[in-house]
Amino acid sequence: MPRERLSVVVTRRLPEAVETRLSELFDVRLREDDTPMTRAELVEAVRTADILVPTLTDSIDAGLIAQAGERLKLIANYGAGVDHIDVATARQRGVLVSNTPGVLTDDTADMTMALILAVTRRIPEGLALMQKGEWTGWAPTALLGGRISGRRLGILGMGRIGQAVARRAAAFGMQVHYHNRRRVRPEIEEALEATYWESLDQMVARMDVISVNCPSTPSTFHLLNARRLGLMKPSAVIVNTSRGEVIDESALARLIRAGNIAGAGLDVYERGSDVAATLRDLSNVVLLPHMGSATIEGRIEMGEKVIINIKTFEDGHRPPDLVVPGML
Ligand code: DGY
Repeated sequence: MPRERLSVVVTRRLPEAVETRLSELFDVRLREDDTPMTRAELVEAVRTADILVPTLTDSIDAGLIAQAGERLKLIANYGAGVDHIDVATARQRGVLVSNTPGVLTDDTADMTMALILAVTRRIPEGLALMQKGEWTGWAPTALLGGRISGRRLGILGMGRIGQAVARRAAAFGMQVHYHNRRRVRPEIEEALEATYWESLDQMVARMDVISVNCPSTPSTFHLLNARRLGLMKPSAVIVNTSRGEVIDESALARLIRAGNIAGAGLDVYERGSDVAATLRDLSNVVLLPHMGSATIEGRIEMGEKVIINIKTFEDGHRPPDLVVPGML
């Protein structure tokens, strides 16, 4: 007898190829418009589905998980970061959580380099001049930025993305330094020619560019607080393509305004799309709308990972990208 198809609820619109494949394989409920689900819709989803496919715009907290029906067995997140999911509570209820690591590493690392260059080489200022039709021609002293080769890059978080940033930065002639919860294996350090700093304070104080590449967890919340940001050299810049919560955003804005930090390139914010107004009108701050991993290839591969996680689970095995509480 053919087995009953798993009931899967997807909370956001996904690329067409992913939605088509999901529909072929499962009894899937897709999102019709491209808005996040309301709380009531999420409650209905966890009450009725076997599998929930949420993404970072959904808050899958303890209160929501408490309302899950008996059927819910897997939260197959569409995305690498799982800071919006209460993984420990899900596990306690016997609900597994999986994510999509690896497939957005290169895209996010590329965007990190784009932000480093955008801030240090003043690309948005040049673009604005051209768009306003105000460029009057080349001048030896116009729009001078800083050279990145030879500069010290301090990577905060040397996981997959941090390492991909390190490889790119080395190709640009930057000196790679890093701080991580655990020092990486010697062969990785050697291959990346990366210098480890046990003290984050000391690293922050000596870098020309800081790149945030660690996940958002209770222990990384405001890791770059006002005190630490205050240790940065006034000529240094900071970029963040990870999660906004790692930086105290209002302290950052204050320090940039005061000239204590030279600039910032941000793709993520402390309060989602509610970006601090104090950051928005600074010419030395480049703001992007969380598009670090936004390539069509990456989004399709994320969908493929979701499908593999669900299929493997359906076949009675552990999903390959299972998230275990405390692993991040
Ligand atoms: C993720 O997958 O967590 C990324 O932040 C999406 O860009």
